[in-house]
Amino acid sequence: MVKNITKDTIENHSYAEFFSIINDLIKDENVQKMRNFNQHARTSCYQHCMQVAYYTYLICKKLNLDYISATRGAMLHDLFLYDWHNHVSEEKGFKNLHAFSHPKIALKNANKFFELNEIEQDVILKHMWPVTISIPKYRESLVVTFADKYSATRETFFYMLNLLHTKKVYKYAYVFLSLFIFRIV
Ligand SMILES: [Fe+2]
Ligand SMILES: [Fe+2]
Repeated sequence: MVKNITKDTIENHSYAEFFSIINDLIKDENVQKMRNFNQHARTSCYQHCMQVAYYTYLICKKLNLDYISATRGAMLHDLFLYDWHNHVSEEKGFKNLHAFSHPKIALKNANKFFELNEIEQDVILKHMWPVTISIPKYRESLVVTFADKYSATRETFFYMLNLLHTKKVYKYAYVFLSLFIFRIV
């Protein structure tokens, strides 16, 4: 199971190839800015993108897909560069809610800072599918949609688990809720 990946935690050779693929991206100051924004629970946007990129790399390599484009796209998939928890869009309307609008913003930013191929662009633009309607054009993009959801779930789950272990009030609430659910009380 992959822990929070940083350049300091390179423990095996697959990490070496993985980092060689995204090396130029993570050196970029705009990509580094993602460290300033929380994505899910206590995971920064940068960590989240790296987790998604690493899962994507492993899966796409195993499936003989274009793992280089997929991994690079995944590393940039949430390059929207704002704190979505308190971000208010200037434009009103359903489609301007963060969940629907941020893939387009991330793609716009990524195109501004890097030269992207078609797969990388599709990965970024479609990563929220099926929340956003347009269907991924490439199998690589489909892998990223799953890696993204898996990472988000995992980040939130471990954060909640950590709360249960560290905060007594959550521990008691959990026990009480469990008893209540199983009708022991
Ligand atoms: Fe996203
Ligand atoms: Fe994401």
